[in-house]
Amino acid sequence: MALTDSLPQVALAHKPTALEHLRNISADCGVDVWIKRDDCTGLLFGGNKVRQLEYYIGQAVVENADVLLTTGAVQSNHVRCTVAAARKLGMDVEVQLENRVASESQAYHNSGNAFLVHLMGATIHHFSVGDDENGADNALYERADNLRRQGRRPYVIPLSNAHTPWGALGYVEAAEELLQQQQQMDLNADAYVVASGSASTHAGLLTGMRASGSQVPVYGICVRRDADSQTGRVRTKSAALAELLECDSHGLADAVICYDDALWPGYGVMSDAVGETLHYVARSEGIALDPTYTAKSFHGLLTLIKAGVIEQGSSVVYIHTGGTPAIFAYPELVSG
Ligand SMILES: Cc1ncc(COP(=O)(O)O)c(C=O)c1O
Repeated sequence: MALTDSLPQVALAHKPTALEHLRNISADCGVDVWIKRDDCTGLLFGGNKVRQLEYYIGQAVVENADVLLTTGAVQSNHVRCTVAAARKLGMDVEVQLENRVASESQAYHNSGNAFLVHLMGATIHHFSVGDDENGADNALYERADNLRRQGRRPYVIPLSNAHTPWGALGYVEAAEELLQQQQQMDLNADAYVVASGSASTHAGLLTGMRASGSQVPVYGICVRRDADSQTGRVRTKSAALAELLECDSHGLADAVICYDDALWPGYGVMSDAVGETLHYVARSEGIALDPTYTAKSFHGLLTLIKAGVIEQGSSVVYIHTGGTPAIFAYPELVSG
């Protein structure tokens, strides 16, 4: 029986996602690099959020909700996937877009994920502060209260860490899926590398791996906050998850590893070096990374290889968490 079998879930994702070898990059860097294609989970351009939504919406269905509410950046993949899921399931959806990135660019505000959210006809609200998770959640809860007064049945998917980590269950399931694929392919991984933002993916993968008996390191690459703060966040989420799954949390806190070298200058903005990684992966493997999450996490992977933390001759699985539509919000990547 799988770890998450008894928990409510709605089928949304194309699974299992492919596990592919990056032949050219492996030859370049002396490490066997494998990529778990969670950018291809279906549901209007896919990504890691689709797996997470299966469990959030599982709860929404248990509560008989008729409208979903959530919050995220203007180019949020989570917001785009939530709207797509609501449309697929015939639910109403209200989203709140936060000004997290100081960009005046027309493309940033209207293309990529923002375009898709408009296309699907979501009700859109704006939240002018970019760095106030509790404030953003409180605005959602107020809106939910208003909807309740109108006789609606809202379900809120919050942003802050102070809620039951339903979404992280999607990556507990993904850890089991990945281990099964590795077994079928006779692939021993020496490390996993994944983007660490809200921490649902990182905490889910780590907790799922440990609960399945794997002690392989899971390196979280920070995309939202520095390594110290992110470590605390992943620990809190992993502990809550272990409790939810009723599994042993021994050693889990010490197993949380975060690196923040690729984060700077900050959320949604790339350094030149991260931009070079985005181009390098596109040109060597025909794979698109996005500027906010996956270019950074892949850059983190290459940095760990260069530093010898991931050793020459070893094998690593990189989780491609998606974000593909956001690339169109940064047309300057290919101009000039
Ligand atoms: C493409 C992509 N990758 C990674 C992340 C980070 O995942 P998590 O929020 O589960 O830490 C996000 C979060 O928005 C994302 O959209």
